[in-house]
Amino acid sequence: MISAFKRTTIVTTITLLLCGLALQPAWSQMKKAASKVTSVKNIATPAEPWWQHAVFYEIYPLSYQDTNGDGSGDLKGITSKLDYLKTLGVDAIWLTPIYPSPLVDFGYDISDYIAIDPKYGTMADFDKLIAEAKKRDIRVIMDLVMNHTSDKHKWFIESSSSKKNPKRDWYVWKDGKTPGQPLNNWQSYFGHSAWQLDPKTNQYYYHKFYIQQPDLNWNNPRVKAAIFDAARFWLKHGVAGFRLDAVNTLYEDPDFTDEGIVKDKDGKPIINAYGDPTLDDTKTSNLPKLHEVLAGLRAVTDTFPGQRVLIGETYMPNVAELAKMYGPRNDELQLPMDTQIGFINKLDVATFRQKILEAETGLNGNLPLLVFDNHDNHRLDVRYGDGTHNEDIQRVLATLLFTTRGVALMYYGDEIGMKTSTPTRKEDVKDPIGVSGWPKEKGRDGERTPMQWDDSANAGFTTGTPWIRIPADYKTINAKAEVANFNSMLNWYKELITLRRTQPSLRDGNYVALNTTDNNVLSWLRQAPGKPAVVVACNFTAAPQNVSIDLTGVGLGGKSAKTLMKTPGSSDPASLTTIQLPAFGVYVGEVQ
Ligand code: GLC
Repeated sequence: MISAFKRTTIVTTITLLLCGLALQPAWSQMKKAASKVTSVKNIATPAEPWWQHAVFYEIYPLSYQDTNGDGSGDLKGITSKLDYLKTLGVDAIWLTPIYPSPLVDFGYDISDYIAIDPKYGTMADFDKLIAEAKKRDIRVIMDLVMNHTSDKHKWFIESSSSKKNPKRDWYVWKDGKTPGQPLNNWQSYFGHSAWQLDPKTNQYYYHKFYIQQPDLNWNNPRVKAAIFDAARFWLKHGVAGFRLDAVNTLYEDPDFTDEGIVKDKDGKPIINAYGDPTLDDTKTSNLPKLHEVLAGLRAVTDTFPGQRVLIGETYMPNVAELAKMYGPRNDELQLPMDTQIGFINKLDVATFRQKILEAETGLNGNLPLLVFDNHDNHRLDVRYGDGTHNEDIQRVLATLLFTTRGVALMYYGDEIGMKTSTPTRKEDVKDPIGVSGWPKEKGRDGERTPMQWDDSANAGFTTGTPWIRIPADYKTINAKAEVANFNSMLNWYKELITLRRTQPSLRDGNYVALNTTDNNVLSWLRQAPGKPAVVVACNFTAAPQNVSIDLTGVGLGGKSAKTLMKTPGSSDPASLTTIQLPAFGVYVGEVQ
């Protein structure tokens, strides 16, 4: 079985096996003081869907801001940080689940789809958050978990009560192959068989995730109706859309036969962190019927005013599969996540160039939703850092996120350079996969630690005992300190977001790959008709690099550039043919 955070690696591995391919302080211009970096309004024309140029910001509510001293974040805490988010330049916040839940999977095990867990506050607190966010032009996206419920949801309690219960076929129940043996070899992403025997009725239920997360049966129209009703409930409360959780896994192949075992190049099964053979996921993920559900839900959201948006958690094996998530007539998800780019997990110029090209050419002209980080994967330091230049590497990643062509989704804490803080002792682990998989799989706690607001006790997150350990580095890595530091990561993010809003070419321009044989520096141009083009160059290596950019091919030969942003300490180039980039250095210039 694979943990969620290993999923991309596994998908990549599978893709490679199937395709037989081999994969392979900065500061911006001193034109304004750090404290004067304020948010700038999008220059979007009203006809354009708001989300097309948006910056989305993922919040893990448990870890954002506690206001009642119970050690866990809450809705009032998020409301109290809206001004911070506004100043950062965020257009929409996505909240991971805040529904009532036994919290086995920290909210992704929902026991009531139309209520707020008291841990986070009340429905009035939620409405207030929406209203206060709206005043600041910030929209709120809910997480919608359609694949499974909690085993404590009343639907499952009824379903498991007897084979004859009217809700029996709301979930996926099957007899074993033989007594004591599940029907097939399907596995949970969180380890071992995906089938759990219910002794009362002597049948197995299917769970792609934790045992406490039974899969809903999407072949049952009543399931669809109930979940779509829940969606309507939140749309009426003013949410701007949904992030659809684990949406690929809604359907299982009706033949219920074994999945294939993934083998290495020597033909041996690849064993996952839980000691099981890795399966190819072909019978339990990305089945075609899924698209009927997506189109159906889109039809629901489209009946509401205000351009509601559907975002998908879409770890797809390749761009062709990702393209399908938009729907044949662009009638499914507006923003399926492009994890092909952000989860390359290695600063490799050729791979980034190729994946960006694929998004440019393979999505039928749709915008990719770029995402480099989330609550299921180690933070950027672990996945991309080299241990020496982590901060500069993160500046490169942020530059890719905000200045290539796409919609941007970022994860809380990235803007201040928060690091992964994986528990070192098993007894500290909160995420159940970290307990069951220890020491190979330490779970996802490391990327879910509380937001580091300041250097006061508990990083300003809570006055109580935090639900999870707070990393010691909060004394220096915190939002308050970074607001005041001109060269901070926070100001790098703010400036990038500001540039993206104010430079028409960065907002609307085409993407043109430059210097396409350079394997050290990734360079590109953004160009909107009649507007100044913008050149970006990012050094993907630990050695200084000299770059020479010739724009003759795009009709801008011989032009010079004005520096918009560059790595702290690096000097302004005399011309586009003499850009000197320090280790993991960045240059962004407006062509003149
Ligand atoms: C998604 C969520 C993850 C959760 C899983 C099961 O992958 O991002 O946190 O554990 O779905 O709901």
